[in-house]
Amino acid sequence: MSDDPKYNAARAALDFIADGMIVGLGTGSTSAHFVRLLGERVKQGLKVKGVPTSEATRNLAEQVGVPLLEISQITSIDVDVDGADEVDPAFRLIKGGGGALLREKIVAAASKRMVVIADTSKWVETLGAFPLPIEVTRFGFALTAQRIHAALRETGCVGDEVVLRVAGKANEPVITDGGNYIIDAHAKSIRDPDALGAALSRIAGVVEHGLFLGLAQTVILGNASGAEVKSL
Ligand code: A5P
Repeated sequence: MSDDPKYNAARAALDFIADGMIVGLGTGSTSAHFVRLLGERVKQGLKVKGVPTSEATRNLAEQVGVPLLEISQITSIDVDVDGADEVDPAFRLIKGGGGALLREKIVAAASKRMVVIADTSKWVETLGAFPLPIEVTRFGFALTAQRIHAALRETGCVGDEVVLRVAGKANEPVITDGGNYIIDAHAKSIRDPDALGAALSRIAGVVEHGLFLGLAQTVILGNASGAEVKSL
């Protein structure tokens, strides 16, 4: 048995996959385990089609032989399997640590069931210790950041620092698959996720935020020896 909690969570998610399904393929290291495992099942004869949530996942799925559909070819997805940065007891999530939150949310919202796969460290009482990723347009991003800062304060978050995500030696802004920037909001503790989510959605320039509210029905928490499946 593997001692990798992420792998164990991903493997348990295979129980939610059946022949003929259209499957949302999440992004991140836990989802990558799932895509590889799904590829093995496809080689053994399982008939599924995947809808990737990022270019990275598309490349991996192609490498391991999971047949893909474009989002424009479908009207609904049977089950979406994706990771998370934080999960609370009401199955509210922070996602977007890997920068793929926009496509991840579109796919999750189009799915009949969202199965979250994570190691136990992602389970939290209150969301917000992990900085909340927010995808914003490049145009006017500094103004948008100011309004995000105000939204954090107005909705009672403990922290209000907002940081443009950068990468590489030159500290260049990270560009998402959708061609946008990511602002990480250091809320520290999000007292009212619904209020913050609604406030962020009202800000011009916010493309999407990484609070996934009311989307997940199942959470699989992997540990060193197996996985615990929780359903609402
Ligand atoms: C990608 O944008 C994220 O939402 C990931 O799903 C999340 O960061 C979890 O990643 P890991 O599985 O690598 O922890």
